[in-house]
Amino acid sequence: MLKENKKRVAAKLATLAGCDPSEIVITRNTTESLDTIIAGFKWQAGDEAIMAVQDYGAMLDMFREVAARHGVVNKILSVPVNPGSDEEIVALYKNAITPKTKLLLVSHVINISGQVMPIRKICDMAHEHGVKVLVDGAHAFAQLVYTIPDLHCDFYGASLHKWLSSPLGAGILYISKENQDAAWPLIGPSKSEEVGIAKFNHTGTHPVATDLTIEDSIEHYTLIGPARKQARLKFLQQYWTQQIMDMPGVIYNTPKQDTRICAIANVGIKGMPPATLAKTLFEKYKIYTVGIDTGNVVGCRITPNVFTTTKELDQLVAAIKELATAAV
Ligand SMILES: Cc1ncc(COP(=O)(O)O)c(C=O)c1O
Repeated sequence: MLKENKKRVAAKLATLAGCDPSEIVITRNTTESLDTIIAGFKWQAGDEAIMAVQDYGAMLDMFREVAARHGVVNKILSVPVNPGSDEEIVALYKNAITPKTKLLLVSHVINISGQVMPIRKICDMAHEHGVKVLVDGAHAFAQLVYTIPDLHCDFYGASLHKWLSSPLGAGILYISKENQDAAWPLIGPSKSEEVGIAKFNHTGTHPVATDLTIEDSIEHYTLIGPARKQARLKFLQQYWTQQIMDMPGVIYNTPKQDTRICAIANVGIKGMPPATLAKTLFEKYKIYTVGIDTGNVVGCRITPNVFTTTKELDQLVAAIKELATAAV
């Protein structure tokens, strides 16, 4: 039953992702999906990989491990907080490519800043140079409206317990048909599973409830409506950010262009470490945020969901205005 349930639910996820059921498997989370590809990629010593300092730590850790295991050379670039154009970002990645580059990791949404990346343009450029692209969709899946094949990526990983609101412990791994032999699976498949995506589907025994609840999460998301959800999240983000982003005491760490935003945004206060800001927002104003101090993103990540009200955001705006005024 475990296998049949998994297959049925994976087919529903394929519909949601806009891909063929033969291109997607259920995993435990984004980390498992992406690290399976990073670890299992058919590396040769001296191969190069590209990633950004703003990518998620678990993936950067796995790349450090393949550097030690296989002699892979990691090129780590930094994505600007407020890029002028898609072309500026594409050029950044292009300039890091050499004849030895084999794999490029890019986040669909940079989780520390909420920046939405021009994935399709990056994939098309990388393919012109024979480089495969692995996309971290942890914060994009069921938040933004898109299909995975439309992104032109080779591999895509996401967690379902983030924006799809499934219970903890569910994710997806997409591998396009032509790339299903480009990586080894994490767990050895049985003989009957050796071909295609099935070889990435062997998990051993695990709680069936995790798979079954995904169906309810899909139904819930479909009832809300993907376009309506994305519009609501964008509205909430702009509702509060537009009131504070240009204040003198504020450091605004999220792009301003409409095409690069989602629910998440990051704001800092001049002269205040992010950990102190997070503590102050929580203890003085009862607002929970996450303090971030990574690369060029120094501030607190603010993440409303569809149920967050503008009244609640008014409290956030009042708090930021008070702190920003005191900072200058
Ligand atoms: C961009 C990004 N990638 C990957 C992950 C890891 O997700 P999980 O712990 O569900 O594997 C996160 C978690 O916050 C994330 O923000």
